Amino acid sequence: MKNVDSKSHVRGESIYLDDIPLLQGTLFACVYDSPVAHGKLKSVDTTEAENCDGVVRIVTAKDLVGENEIGGILPDEPLFADEEVHFQGMPVALVLAETEEQARHAARKITAEIEPLEIVTDPRVACLKNDLIVPPKHFILGDAANAFKNCEYVFAGRADVNGQEHLYIETQGAYSIPTEQGGMKVYSSTQGPTAVQRCVARVTALPMHQIEVDVTRLGGGFGGKEDQANAWAAMCAVGTQLTKRPVKYALHRMEDMRMTGKRHPYSADYKIGLDKDLKIVAYEVVFYQNAGASADLSPPVLERTLFHCTNAYFIPNVTATAYSCRTNLPPNTAFRGFGGPQGMFVIESAIAHAAEKLNVSASEIQRKNLINNGDEFPYGQKAISEALTTWTQADEKFDFAKIQKVANEFNRNNKFVKKGVAVQPICFGISFTKTPMNQARSLVHVYTDGSVAVSTGAVEMGQGVNTKIAQVASTIFSLPIERVKVHTTNTLRIANTSPTAASAAADLNGKATQIACETILQRLKEVAAPLVEAETSDDVSIENGFVFRNGESTNLDWLVLVNEAHFNRVSLSEHAHYATPGINFDWGIAKGHPFAYHVYGTAVLGVTVDCIRGIYTVDFVKACHDFGSSMNTSVDYGQIEGGIVQGIGWLTMEEVFYDENGKLRSNALSTYKIPDIYSVPKEIEILPLETEKENPAIFNSKAVGEPPLMYGIGAYFAIREAVKAFNSEHSPAFDAPFTPEKVLLNLYSETMKQMKAGK
Ligand code: MTE
Ligand code: HPA
Ligand code: MOS
Repeated sequence: MKNVDSKSHVRGESIYLDDIPLLQGTLFACVYDSPVAHGKLKSVDTTEAENCDGVVRIVTAKDLVGENEIGGILPDEPLFADEEVHFQGMPVALVLAETEEQARHAARKITAEIEPLEIVTDPRVACLKNDLIVPPKHFILGDAANAFKNCEYVFAGRADVNGQEHLYIETQGAYSIPTEQGGMKVYSSTQGPTAVQRCVARVTALPMHQIEVDVTRLGGGFGGKEDQANAWAAMCAVGTQLTKRPVKYALHRMEDMRMTGKRHPYSADYKIGLDKDLKIVAYEVVFYQNAGASADLSPPVLERTLFHCTNAYFIPNVTATAYSCRTNLPPNTAFRGFGGPQGMFVIESAIAHAAEKLNVSASEIQRKNLINNGDEFPYGQKAISEALTTWTQADEKFDFAKIQKVANEFNRNNKFVKKGVAVQPICFGISFTKTPMNQARSLVHVYTDGSVAVSTGAVEMGQGVNTKIAQVASTIFSLPIERVKVHTTNTLRIANTSPTAASAAADLNGKATQIACETILQRLKEVAAPLVEAETSDDVSIENGFVFRNGESTNLDWLVLVNEAHFNRVSLSEHAHYATPGINFDWGIAKGHPFAYHVYGTAVLGVTVDCIRGIYTVDFVKACHDFGSSMNTSVDYGQIEGGIVQGIGWLTMEEVFYDENGKLRSNALSTYKIPDIYSVPKEIEILPLETEKENPAIFNSKAVGEPPLMYGIGAYFAIREAVKAFNSEHSPAFDAPFTPEKVLLNLYSETMKQMKAGK
């Protein structure tokens, strides 16, 4: 079934933050942000800006009625810099003016006196100074230190993986409007309406019931609006509180790139031990997460790095340590995969390292170590594994050996063009790792014309969650999907929401919707039973708009039944609650059962590298993917294709570049390359895993938002293989992304060495 939004998207009728009609008297905001990455804020001079045309007010830290604090997990992030600045792009002051142009113009007239302090951008340096966001975290399974002693082969090395700009098409933004009794309504482009509500309450010192947050839809979030939408909403709200006028702020692309955090870069040290049969016996890994200047979501991101540090493999002895390191960069944040992909990149690097030294293919080691049913993850949960089945079904369909053979043959016959192949298994846990977040609510109304309105805590950001929720209601009521409308996400209709994240929105909100609909349906059946002379409501069903008794159709239809219920004062509304059963995690012992289930898959990727220019194409990504049983293949295939391309982008061409002063050099689309139509794989083929297994997902349809991104990791290793096919003596460092520039340097590493040596 088509995404319910497809037509309105194409017609340009979908309503994003910037499409909300403006009220008369709306002011526009613009931030003045720190031009240096670290320093003492001596003074801020706003006089010239105040005298600019149209400027109504300039707000700094001292003007806040509530707290100058927006840190969601740790209170370490001021809304406006007060005594110190901690990164380039840190908000210092806010201009409110009659027009957007006037606000931007005036912001440029603000100056600040900042006494420079030492700038740290490298997480390893921060760790040496013990500048950590939280104490280090550990996962321990078995006894790695001892197990290494008995290993036939042990390899150690370093892997680095850079960050990623979210580049949602819609930049961050918010619009706040004063309401009665000093309250306000805040429209926000956020994945977390409740997080925005809480944050606005904090900076305005208003109780949460005075603040209504409404989210129409997002032009993409990808994790970047899980926490980092809060600041802009807080600024607009503060503006409204101080001026009693509506205030809007939609960031310019370069403001957004400069001021917001990104995927966390990681540096890691690994040590991998194998026995003579290539079974991985021991794995030791230390992660240095580049958290940026404040905590934001770094602690749970760090945790998920640990959760996924062994990817789809079973390793009996694991010692994993992770440091969240404070640096003078914008606070890094959630990004599709939430730290998991970084953990997986490191184990894949360790395997590639071992394969290279042992002169076997990485896929041989991967294949031998896939996690089996009942094997224990380092965090204590036992696997219900599809790792081997996805591998086997992919291999049967796509023939890995043949793909490799074709590449080898090609490489023998071509000197300056080389092909590389990699197999990439994935395993991703579904549920927020923080157990209490795994809850959701849904509000369902059946109206007297028979139509259905649904509100949940889920935010539609292009991933198709509204379509899935509409499908749930339409399936349970057996009504055409057009009879169901999923409405905006609003904190008055649904309170205390978890963000739309962790790929869990369809499961959590879909299940709450299922419960609400089933409750209403049961009431309707009870109303219907006597009307169709059924003995009990169990004999009644509703199908395609008609009431059935014991499977036989009657002439009582949906519309009449609904009105009969209303006439008899039976409620046609329900507000239902769902909490994922059976999950827990205890950080005291770092063990538990944090995930409702895992999503598995195996992809094979092929690339071609132009060994004169260093450029490459991804020829194909073919994957056997574990959907459980997809409730919407067009939405799910869209998620897989998008995820794969985003993953490939991260590991190949997207290069977030901060200089030693903490200045973002890749601060626009001219200096930050994201995948375009020419860089998507020429072929993406998805084979749904054939399985009869039941799972706890909504309608048995497993979460699909994040896992496919991790197939993209294979692109890195496929390029690495192609580079080695050209420059066989060379072992490229594990240092993602593999930009064309880096490919070229690796292709000609020997030439470079000779040049450096002056030969
Ligand atoms: N797809 C689109 N088109 N836009 C997005 O912003 N975000 C991703 C993924 N797919 C995103 C997307 C991320 S980071 C997550 S966690 C999931 O969608 C969230 O939605 P879900 O829980 O409904 O899968
Ligand atoms: N995933 C995504 N977002 C989150 C999580 C998680 O596990 N925990 C808190 N926010
Ligand atoms: Mo996704 S990173 O959990 O928003």
